[in-house]
Amino acid sequence: MPRKDGALVTRDYKNAMPDELETSAKPEDRGLDLALRPQRWDEYIGQGSVKENLKILIEAARRRGEPIEHVLIYGPSGLGKTTLAYLIAREMNANIRITSGPAIERVGDLASILTNLMPRDILFVDEAHRLNKMIEEVLYPAMESRTLDIIIGKGPSARTIQLELPPFTLVAATTRIGLLSSPLRSRFGATYRLDFYTPDDIKKILARSAKLLKVSADDDALSFIAASSRFTPRVANRLLKRVRDYAEVHGKGIITTPLAQAALKLLNIDELGLEETDRRLLDAIISKFNGGPVGLQALAAACAEEIDTIEEVHEPFLMQLGFIERTPRGRLATKRAYQHLGIPAPAQNAQLTL
Ligand code: ADE
Repeated sequence: MPRKDGALVTRDYKNAMPDELETSAKPEDRGLDLALRPQRWDEYIGQGSVKENLKILIEAARRRGEPIEHVLIYGPSGLGKTTLAYLIAREMNANIRITSGPAIERVGDLASILTNLMPRDILFVDEAHRLNKMIEEVLYPAMESRTLDIIIGKGPSARTIQLELPPFTLVAATTRIGLLSSPLRSRFGATYRLDFYTPDDIKKILARSAKLLKVSADDDALSFIAASSRFTPRVANRLLKRVRDYAEVHGKGIITTPLAQAALKLLNIDELGLEETDRRLLDAIISKFNGGPVGLQALAAACAEEIDTIEEVHEPFLMQLGFIERTPRGRLATKRAYQHLGIPAPAQNAQLTL
């Protein structure tokens, strides 16, 4: 069983069952992707270049009998950063210990995590951009020279003791690479960016997931769901499950295109995968701010949304679709956004580029 250790979930990955692995997943992952998560490299679809680079990193380290260097993985959420961390651990035949930036509140939390590591363990830190500065300072020597500097006492009698740590690999993940301090970033031996998936790869992921879920789906229906999946496996798998529910209730259990269309319509998701909030954001830029540019704060206030949610969830996808642009003066709706919402674009707007 996973052992809860303050901020840490420890896991004997080699012997863990999928259900056990589930317990430390982020809430949105829980009960969702675990059964569908690729367990081996050959099951992992897409992100070809990251996969190739990681394979070399791992194979070379294995041949030398060393742990791999610290790895930083970044990119929008739902693209498989955690999955990659698991795959790295599996390939290295190592245990993975899981925590996240906000879970490590005090230096003592990190000290306890680090001193409990076993040789060759993978320490996975999700949301690494939310590590506080004091924690980062302790991490630097731990990453660089596997030492932990602990200050004992206060004032003139305070002294530092140095503990040696076992050889371990830090795998950190973040959706916001720009928020990571450069001293931290520079201490990773390898940094990989995950990109949005192509619709073709999403369709392959959906076909694999449908098989694992033992549900039949028409090829066209999978293409339709793929197109609405925000180029994101986690979203694709979630939609597949909702469409499966709909097909069970309103059809004969087989996923057809009309059933998929009806299910997504009911969920208020359009054919490009935009949700209500995406449309509200675009509509606000266009209707309230004349197409932009508008600052993030003003936009968030106008839509009653969190700035972080806009930046992490909606904006990357809307930019990928070419619906908004980021300029030094703020966010701008493009012609495509006007077209998608069925709003006539102003004829004379020098800012509209696409
Ligand atoms: N499920 C989630 N992400 C996946 C991926 N990249 N390949 C295969 N299945 C997945």
